[in-house]
Order: sequence, then structure tokens, then C-alpha cells
Amino acid sequence: MTKIAAAGTFQMGERRVNRMGYGAMQLAGPGVFGPPKDRSTAVAVLREAVESGVNHIDTSDFYGPHVTNQIIREALHPYPRELAIVTKVGATRGTDASWNPAQSPAELTRAVHDNLKSLGVDILDVVNLRVMGDPRDAHKPASDSIAEQFGALAELKRKGLIRHLGLSNASSAQLKEARGIADVVCVQNFFNVVSRGDDALVDELAAAGIAYVPFFPLGGFAPLQAAELSSVAKMLDATPMQVALAWLLKRAPNILLIPGTSSLAHLRENLAAAELELPEEALKRLNAIGTA
Ligand SMILES: NC(=O)c1ccc[n+]([C@@H]2O[C@H](COP(=O)([O-])OP(=O)(O)OC[C@H]3O[C@@H](n4cnc5c(N)ncnc54)[C@H](OP(=O)(O)O)[C@@H]3O)[C@@H](O)[C@H]2O)c1
Repeated sequence: MTKIAAAGTFQMGERRVNRMGYGAMQLAGPGVFGPPKDRSTAVAVLREAVESGVNHIDTSDFYGPHVTNQIIREALHPYPRELAIVTKVGATRGTDASWNPAQSPAELTRAVHDNLKSLGVDILDVVNLRVMGDPRDAHKPASDSIAEQFGALAELKRKGLIRHLGLSNASSAQLKEARGIADVVCVQNFFNVVSRGDDALVDELAAAGIAYVPFFPLGGFAPLQAAELSSVAKMLDATPMQVALAWLLKRAPNILLIPGTSSLAHLRENLAAAELELPEEALKRLNAIGTA
């Protein structure tokens, strides 16, 4: 079995987690809506991830909605003490599978209670505020104030419903604003070997000891494709996805991985990236393929 500890650990809040984690979004049905085609495999993926040492799982009650959290609960409850389940709030799903902002304090409070219920816990380990993005690109941060939303979550933390807070799809200015309200233990933004818009933020967070958790580490709904990535993978006798993950691990020590998959074969392949060494030559070639 892969030794995922080879990728190292990082302190996120009160937990020291393995840098190789797992993102649960792919466990819902097509379009992250409704039940999966194969629920027993979804359960098996989660159990094998945790048996392999994964102790950081990313989720949201708006995946499904509710479905992903319910599968996590079925597969893993009662949860191992060392497992950090990070969820996110700030959106709801329409009956047509649409993603709709739900950012008022009342909606955020409801979302926290929904997550507590679907995960079957009294307190959530980490809650990320999913900030609404640029209207032209939902995965790109905008510049609006998030004080009201983050303040509402900070209040729920004070009430004992949340241990730690994080942000998702946030800019550096929004991070500063949030940190003026409460501690931030992680930021989850769009970043991978090809899309490097957050290079400066990764470094800023590394200096502050805050985890940076790239979403779409493998390209998301359009899996990464780059001739140079495939060529480096061939040279290393690895797969392009493993190389993409190994590059992120090398990029900065505060980067935590949450690759998503609904497949046991892909899970094993992705976890094995924890042991993949990138020689200097490979790193140089990979560094050259990214664009802001
Ligand atoms: N904060 C946000 O706004 C936000 C947005 C998106 C995602 N997220 C989080 O980030 C996590 C990761 O993102 P993601 O799952 O969307 O994208 P991802 O990890 O970049 O890629 C997942 C896609 O790649 C495929 N895949 C996974 N491993 C593979 C492999 N070894 N070989 C070939 N294909 C492979 C998956 O299909 P298979 O199922 O067939 O393996 C799936 O289609 C999510 O689970 C979620 O928790 C957060």
C-alpha cells in the first residue's frame, strides 16, 4: 500500500494532517447532483482512502445536495479521531441542479446546521466560506467585502458549532478582511500545474502558516491535458495525474491535496503520487507550462 506519509504533514487548526487528502465532490451523481450510480463503490473509496492514511476529507452539504455528506457518514461514522472533515457553505442547489448563492447570515447558519446533521456531528472541524466569484467566472475571486458572511460564521464558531474557519475562492484582500474577524486555517482556491493565478497567494499563505488547498488539482470537470505533462509523466514512468499532484506537493509546503475521484483505481493512482519524486529537470519543465 502507498505510504502517503511520504508527502509529509501540515498543521491545520488543531490537527496535523497528511498533505495527501481526498476531495469527496465526485461521490455524488453526475453534475454533483443526486445519488451516485454506484453507492457501494463510493463507500469503498472513502474507506480505502482512510485506511490508506488520508485524514483530511473535503466535502459540502451542497454536493448532491446532502448526498456526499450522507455517504461520508455511512462509510466512516463514528469518525476516527484524527480525521479532519472540511466542509463549505455559501451556496444551495436548485431542483434543476443549478448552483445558487446562499450567503445571508440566516442561510449560512442553516447550512452549518445542515452539515452538522448530514455528517452526524456536534461540531464541524473546519467550515470554509465559499465566496461568490467574478460573475464571468465563478472559480475566480471577486473583490466584494465578505465581512458580513465571515462574521456570521465567526459567531457560529463562538457558539461552539465550528472548530476552525477557512475561505474558498477568496482573494488576498478578502483573506486580510477575514483575518481581521477570526483566524483562518485554510484557503481553498482554483490552482494546478497549468492554472497558476494564485502563485502569489500560495506564497503569502505559506509565510503565514495557513494551508492552501487547491481545488481542481487535476483540472476538475476538464481533466488536465498538456503535452509537456504527458511527456514528463512518460519520462518518470508515472501518469500525468500523478505528476500534476507531485508538482503541487513540491510547489509549497503548505499545499494540501484533495484530488477527487469516484474510482478505486484512480484513488490508488492518486495516493501513489505521495511517493513520486520529481527530479530537478522534470520540475523545470513543469514550472514552464503554467499560466496565470
Ligand atoms: N471550493 C470550491 O469551489 C470547489 C470547487 C470544486 C471542487 N472542490 C473540491 O475540490 C476537490 C477536488 O476537485 P474535483 O474533484 O472537482 O477535481 P479534480 O480533483 O481536479 O479532478 C476530478 C476529476 O478527475 C478525474 N480523476 C481523478 N483521478 C484521476 C486519475 N488518476 N486519472 C484520470 N482521471 C482522474 C475524476 O474522475 P473519476 O471519478 O472517474 O476518477 C474527476 O472527473 C473536490 O472533490 C471538492 O471537494 C471545491
